[in-house]
Amino acid sequence: MATACFVCTGPVDEFLDLGQQPLSDAFPAPGDDLSQEYFFRLAVGRCAACWMTQLVEVPPTERMFHQSYPYRTSGSAVMREHFARTAERLLARRRDPFTVEIGSNDGVFLGVAAARGLRHLGVDPSGDAGADAVARGVRVRVDFFTEEVAREVRTEHGPADLVFSANTISHDPEINSILRGVAALLAPDGEFVFEDPYLGAVLTNTAFDQIIDEHVLFFSARSVVTMLAQAGLELVDVERLPVHGGQIRFTAAHRGSRSAAPSVAALLAEEQVIGLHDTALLASFAARTERRRDDLVALLRGLRSEGARIVAYGATAKSATVANYCGLGPDLVSAVIDTTPAKQGRLTPGTHIPVEPPEAFGPGKADYALMFAWNHAEEIMAKERAFSEAGGRWVFYVPEVRVV
Ligand code: TMP
Ligand code: ZN
Repeated sequence: MATACFVCTGPVDEFLDLGQQPLSDAFPAPGDDLSQEYFFRLAVGRCAACWMTQLVEVPPTERMFHQSYPYRTSGSAVMREHFARTAERLLARRRDPFTVEIGSNDGVFLGVAAARGLRHLGVDPSGDAGADAVARGVRVRVDFFTEEVAREVRTEHGPADLVFSANTISHDPEINSILRGVAALLAPDGEFVFEDPYLGAVLTNTAFDQIIDEHVLFFSARSVVTMLAQAGLELVDVERLPVHGGQIRFTAAHRGSRSAAPSVAALLAEEQVIGLHDTALLASFAARTERRRDDLVALLRGLRSEGARIVAYGATAKSATVANYCGLGPDLVSAVIDTTPAKQGRLTPGTHIPVEPPEAFGPGKADYALMFAWNHAEEIMAKERAFSEAGGRWVFYVPEVRVV
């Protein structure tokens, strides 16, 4: 039976089931009662009315995004640089802008506004991440961004010239409340800029691990146009970003407030040509995903049976999908290396592989490293060059299974 679309309540047709999955950012401690771990059915479908690709079941939002949400944007030098450059570019467009960020995490983006003494406010439900932002001089309201919160922010601080959000609005099934809030908060000539994974990149690269509890909506130009229109907003620009495996920076404005850049029509046309929303492409993605799982499991089992020591690199949220879908446990992968303090010393969600700091990795400490953080591969492989130089090999599974 079809479920109801989070955007338009239309019927969602399921096209891929990734089975029972834990929360991708819930890392139990070794002493915890593991029988209490929360699981849900991870499956994706596409709305037949507005074309939004989305999860068919979503865990309660407060279970995923809470005080001690462990992810930190600052964990990647490439992402720190990306957001600093983005902030500089967006802030240079206006005199004395008031900027609101939805999902400000540890304040990497707004830190640029703070350093220049510009008015700003971050809204984020994680108090721990917010404390890191405050340490950067960033002002934070610890809250989910909703229509009600947006109206309060406007009353207290005035209209926003820029609302920015990265990897956040696609995570929230209450998307319509967020967008009504943005419309209420935004100045008449203000702009709303958001960056999120692009459906086209997920399908083309068979990046099935982008499907996680937190990635509720998979945006395309076509679905975003309809989604924004419901709140009186209009898509006025799109820009492809190389980060996180292929994203789009969408720029929206109040309907009729400015004309759209040619990039919007171009992307809509491209999506039409490749049949991005067609059942055939979604079905082929599902089939490729199943083959990818079989290939990866066969490779790792083969290596392990020859006595190879295998670890993984990057306890990413995405890797929860891979590990649980492929059944990778500590018998196959003995540790996952990660720089995030809040993940170290804990176990991976559902599969219970120990998470260890980078000091546990290096030449001679493993034969193969499974690249869970493939979106940060360049940065990580540069840092860990000594591992490869000593004969260590990296295993990838996006865009295909290969050993490097
Ligand atoms: P992400 O793919 O959601 O950004 O998560 C990346 C994870 O990988 C995060 O837990 C931090 C970790 N990481 C490292 O351990 N070392 C690194 O050099 C980088 C860039 C990330
Ligand atoms: Zn819909």
